[in-house]
Amino acid sequence: MLITFEGIDGSGKTTQAKKLYEFLNSIGKPASLYRDPGSTPLAEEIRRIILNYQMDSTTELLLFASARSSLVWERIFPDLRDGKIVIVDRFIDSTTAYQGYGREINLGTVNILNHIATRGRKPDITFILNVSLETALERLKKAGKSTRFEDPEFLKKVRSAFILIHKQEKERKIYLIDGERDEEEVFEDIKSIVKLHLFY
Ligand code: TYD
Repeated sequence: MLITFEGIDGSGKTTQAKKLYEFLNSIGKPASLYRDPGSTPLAEEIRRIILNYQMDSTTELLLFASARSSLVWERIFPDLRDGKIVIVDRFIDSTTAYQGYGREINLGTVNILNHIATRGRKPDITFILNVSLETALERLKKAGKSTRFEDPEFLKKVRSAFILIHKQEKERKIYLIDGERDEEEVFEDIKSIVKLHLFY
């Protein structure tokens, strides 16, 4: 089973992905946790390049796709074959939201690259952590984080894009989770949804 966590920077998705990973392993369900871009030596190098260089949006899109391809091929597919539950911090919906809606790259192009990178494998469950722009910016300020993806105007577009993806992709299991609440409360929601898929 492939579970992805999505949301704008500061939405709390990384914390929740880690909690789910720890919970599943604690109940004897072997799970792995990866971050996209990253989690293979090559994808980590690509991640470093993406975060450290200014570049045009098409180059950026292609680098995200390359990093994802490496992650899918070298980690996700072998783990799924072994029967593991694979949890990924960001995946295809981040590319649709950031490069598609955010950078305004043609959505058809984005979809094709997502398809190539994943060989068409879609997530089984996707959680989109939804927080207000104010909350996200406040959390990012506290964490002392700033990258070129964290401009407020840009994040505003990305935030709406995630909500739109949830509304539009009805054939997928995408859950929009209210991330404004206490960490434990948010996790209770996630846990009950995952349990439902695992045991029923
Ligand atoms: P991430 O590692 O999730 O950063 P954080 O943990 O701080 O939220 O992602 C790094 C940045 O890359 C993030 O700002 C979102 C951006 N991104 C894209 O623009 N497109 C993508 O396809 C992905 C996966 C991430």
